[in-house]
Amino acid sequence: MHFEESINFLEKYEYHEKEFHGTSLQHNILSYIWQGDYSSRIKERLIKGNTKVIDLGCGTGQWLIDMSSKYPLSTFIGIDISSRLFPSQEIKPNNVAFLQYNLLDHPGIPFPNETFDFVYLRCLSMTFEEKDWAHVINEIVRVTDLNGCVEFMDFVCEGDIKGPIMNHLCSSLLSFLESKNIKPPSTTKLTEYLNQTNQISNIQLEVKSCPLGSWGGKLGELMLSDFITVFQRFKSILVPFMKISEKEYDKLLIEFDNECVRYQLCCYTYRLYGNKTTYNLG
Ligand SMILES: C[S@@+](CC[C@H](N)C(=O)[O-])C[C@H]1O[C@@H](n2cnc3c(N)ncnc32)[C@H](O)[C@@H]1O
Repeated sequence: MHFEESINFLEKYEYHEKEFHGTSLQHNILSYIWQGDYSSRIKERLIKGNTKVIDLGCGTGQWLIDMSSKYPLSTFIGIDISSRLFPSQEIKPNNVAFLQYNLLDHPGIPFPNETFDFVYLRCLSMTFEEKDWAHVINEIVRVTDLNGCVEFMDFVCEGDIKGPIMNHLCSSLLSFLESKNIKPPSTTKLTEYLNQTNQISNIQLEVKSCPLGSWGGKLGELMLSDFITVFQRFKSILVPFMKISEKEYDKLLIEFDNECVRYQLCCYTYRLYGNKTTYNLG
């Protein structure tokens, strides 16, 4: 997304609020914060064409749809365990295909070795159990072509959290996930997994902050609205887990608005990316 388009996104929001709801809102906010859809050095190849891209755990496929319209000569594949959110055949661009598949199924991602020039994963850190990550990453590296790029993007889930409500909500969610053996991998852990494959080099980490709440202007308001939507979705599991009533949970979300301003809260997202090369082990 170019800078001017990004500005338009915030302005347009005022007039077309419904368009940007749900995951589409989060997708647009993330593209705006990062001023683009990816950080890997692959733009020229995407423009030139015949470049193959796969988005693992693609959800609605919004990232793929944006990418496919910007790079019409390249090919895009989305994989997700559920086809429920895939776009309908009528609006699906010709250079995108979707495949329903469980990434944990063995033997692995249903493509031959070195098929893709760019393998992308966004917001999957709360998806897999700790024991599954090494398998998933080995599979990612296997299907990446030599000189191809691998990129992970997600919210940072580590470090101190300012604000009692933010702390309560986030630590409850992380404890709930831990009770299901799910622990979002830290960027250090992801780097370690990539290093263990001995095939990914030039690993780079970038982190960007985004204000939460009205102290951060329109962007802060939109990010807060996305944050609240996420915690509303978790309500039915977090209420019993936190041992509070639905009313108390709702009150936390309402009071969270003021807390964001009082503590000038931010959330953080990262991109971790590298290239597939063969290491000279000698
Ligand atoms: C938080 S969403 C992220 C969606 C998308 N990447 C984005 O950034 O908007 C996580 C996605 O992972 C998918 N998913 C969960 N487990 C999966 C699995 N074992 N194999 C494939 N997809 C999976 C879910 O269906 C969901 O669409």
